[in-house]
Amino acid sequence: MEPLIAVKDLDIAFLQQGVRTHVVKDISFDIFPQEVLAIVGESGSGKSVTALSIMRLLPPPPYCTIMGTITYEQLNVLKLTEKQLRKIRGAGVAYVFQEPSTSFNPVFTIGYQIAEAIRLHLADVEDVKAYAIQLLCKVGLDGQHCYGAYPHELSGGMQQRAMIAMALACRPRVLIADEPTTALDATIQKQIIELLKHLQRTEKLTIVLITHNFGIVRHFAQRVIVMSRGKIVEQGLSEQIVMHPQHPYTQALIACIPTLGQRKERLKTIDYSAF
Ligand SMILES: Nc1ncnc2c1ncn2[C@@H]1O[C@H](COP(=O)(O)OP(=O)(O)O)[C@@H](O)[C@H]1O
Ligand SMILES: [Mg+2]
Repeated sequence: MEPLIAVKDLDIAFLQQGVRTHVVKDISFDIFPQEVLAIVGESGSGKSVTALSIMRLLPPPPYCTIMGTITYEQLNVLKLTEKQLRKIRGAGVAYVFQEPSTSFNPVFTIGYQIAEAIRLHLADVEDVKAYAIQLLCKVGLDGQHCYGAYPHELSGGMQQRAMIAMALACRPRVLIADEPTTALDATIQKQIIELLKHLQRTEKLTIVLITHNFGIVRHFAQRVIVMSRGKIVEQGLSEQIVMHPQHPYTQALIACIPTLGQRKERLKTIDYSAF
């Protein structure tokens, strides 16, 4: 099968106070149509930077330099003009960030912001409000109510659902979800993952899911890439990697991750008689 996105020899460096630091080091991977690909790794390993580079959302050179190629529909994303990029950012690839509360503008209603996204990307939609409400319903919210609500009036989980609705506004083929559940508690996390799973099927989305939760990987992703210090240290079918992790870092991650939506174990009661 042809990959939808092919990342080859990607190398990303930041220039700070005259020092160039490589944060992504020569990584290559493919993203196939309608798969769920998880990118896993400890904080600072380069997951977000890698994902942002796919949409060219990183700062310009010389502060940030990106080498290699990212091929999307026969085009090298890294060489596109701003105009071409807008098309990819709109209808091609959408991004859902970790913190829903900082992703919405607090002074506008949810409906207004989703409607703006629709107007920006889809000139053919006649009834923008109806379409926005339909999107909100699609992500399991009360569309009418949420359309008129301000971000702070929604819970964290509802805000994240609304963010996903906004990401869907441009009918993307690829949804990059960057730790979409990290800021949420376990039960809500599970619901958001179930929602993404559902949308993947109904909207035929390709999903790149960034997480450091192997419980989520096992539950949701077909393939996984494990990053550590800017490199891919392991990649393959998630089932295989969960069962037989090769890299010590992956082994450590799998050993310490609780099952999705559950705590691993209760804290043990201290046996004072032993003292
Ligand atoms: N805009 C930036 N300027 C300088 N360094 C950055 C910037 N964004 C990220 N980095 C650095 O790049 C490395 C990878 O970051 P990131 O991709 O955000 O990690 P994570 O795997 O947690 O998503 C980190 O060391 C981070 O400090
Ligand atoms: Mg990150």
